[in-house]
Amino acid sequence: MKIKAAENGPYLIEVSEAKVKRDGKEEALSQKTIALCRCGQSSNKPFCDGTHRKHEFKGGLAEIEVR
Ligand code: FES
Repeated sequence: MKIKAAENGPYLIEVSEAKVKRDGKEEALSQKTIALCRCGQSSNKPFCDGTHRKHEFKGGLAEIEVR
């Protein structure tokens, strides 16, 4: 699995299949790339909702490969 920290943006995780469980509900995710909030400002945590742009979040590019 590869986790990428987008420059000035979220953590991006490439997946073949994913489910999210929150508030007692489980939901299958259809997207192949999941964007997780890294700035702490999203209204849809743990997911990125684009709010990092409004807050001009700064964070470097990084890539983590997990085996
Ligand atoms: S990283 Fe996008 S809203 Fe936080």
